[in-house]
Amino acid sequence: MNPLDPVRLRRALADHLEEGGVLKTPAWRKAVETVPRELFLPMFFKHETGPDGLTHYTPVSRDTDPGQWLALVYQNDTWVTQIDGHLTAEAADRPVTGFPTSSSTMPSTVVGMLESLDVDDNMNVLEIGTGTGYSTGLMCHRLGEDSVTTVEVDPAVAQRADAALEVAGYSTWTITGDGLLGHPRRAPYDRTIATCAVRRIPYAWIRQTKPGGIILATVGPSAWTYGTGLAKLTVNEDSTASGRIIGRTSFMPARAEAVVPLSGDLTARAAYPDTERKTGLSPNVLNDWMPAFLAQLAAPGAQLVRTISDSRETVYLFDTGREAFAALTADGDEWTVRQGGPVTIWDAIESTLTAWHDAGEPDISTVRMEVTPEAHAYRIGEEPALRWKHRHQPLSD
Ligand SMILES: C[S@@+](CC[C@H](N)C(=O)[O-])C[C@H]1O[C@@H](n2cnc3c(N)ncnc32)[C@H](O)[C@@H]1O
Repeated sequence: MNPLDPVRLRRALADHLEEGGVLKTPAWRKAVETVPRELFLPMFFKHETGPDGLTHYTPVSRDTDPGQWLALVYQNDTWVTQIDGHLTAEAADRPVTGFPTSSSTMPSTVVGMLESLDVDDNMNVLEIGTGTGYSTGLMCHRLGEDSVTTVEVDPAVAQRADAALEVAGYSTWTITGDGLLGHPRRAPYDRTIATCAVRRIPYAWIRQTKPGGIILATVGPSAWTYGTGLAKLTVNEDSTASGRIIGRTSFMPARAEAVVPLSGDLTARAAYPDTERKTGLSPNVLNDWMPAFLAQLAAPGAQLVRTISDSRETVYLFDTGREAFAALTADGDEWTVRQGGPVTIWDAIESTLTAWHDAGEPDISTVRMEVTPEAHAYRIGEEPALRWKHRHQPLSD
């Protein structure tokens, strides 16, 4: 028996996802066993951490090493297919570094989301972030090609996905455009699913999803690459949407919302604080997922930057939209925080994390949320200190 037989590999992947409790329903199992992931990944980047601590991406291709390529295709892993908005594995002849901008997400995440979407036959779905088209293919298998509309912002990525979907046998609706606007021409949808992260649920998705329909998307109000949650919302008759965070997920940010790293002299940006004090809360707490999620709720739009100079660590939080900052410096085990601008970023994070700690550190799945045309409201339980309201304003950075 050939261990590199795609049919066997697909079955093994389905078994793996089922054993892990991710794959639950026969219809999605059939889709995983049928849709050839290799068609969507003729080339991709393998990732490993280099001696410099950076992630190095090495091109892998069907043509140069078919054995390794196929084995990796069916590994439960995310394979990056584009770096820095343009570089594909086809164009790279050596390992590269950079920021992943398109990928085939690991099957356990894709299938876990599809299971959470609670689809039924005859439903139609809007997908934001086509990427390679693999998740689109799974949905086409489950629901039929006419019931799936997928939007990809990058024209070259959309074209490759559309071609791969055709080869897989699905003439689906692959739209090139900004998925934050949905796709009104094929609305209303029973389900809207996003495989890129958003700072907030675009109101267009609520307008384009039927009452009773579900929206599933990764949210993180400050666009950090971690500390994000998978929001599952039901659209209400009054054109609001409500639901909760059902777990952790991490996705690359929607392109228009990706944070441009701050450059230049950061010390100068934080040179004139309004206040300075000791804080009992180490910013290292933000390395953990739930505190990072809560920090984004408490200080939406704040960028987190860590620097080390003369072996002294400084952790900055910059809210460039509101021209505010917090700068935390270590003195042995003690931290000093200097804050400037119209909002006190660290005070907000500190009181949120203290209230969360006092409430017994509930996990991310206790976060409920409601989206109206005016605002996003998040809460944990009934505790006033664990409520956050983000009024909608144009994104400014
Ligand atoms: C993680 S990949 C998608 C994975 C894909 N579903 C799969 O299974 O292969 C995220 C994709 O979202 C796309 N994207 C980012 N911002 C977008 C936007 N505003 N509208 C539509 N697509 C977007 C990226 O170009 C990228 O291809």
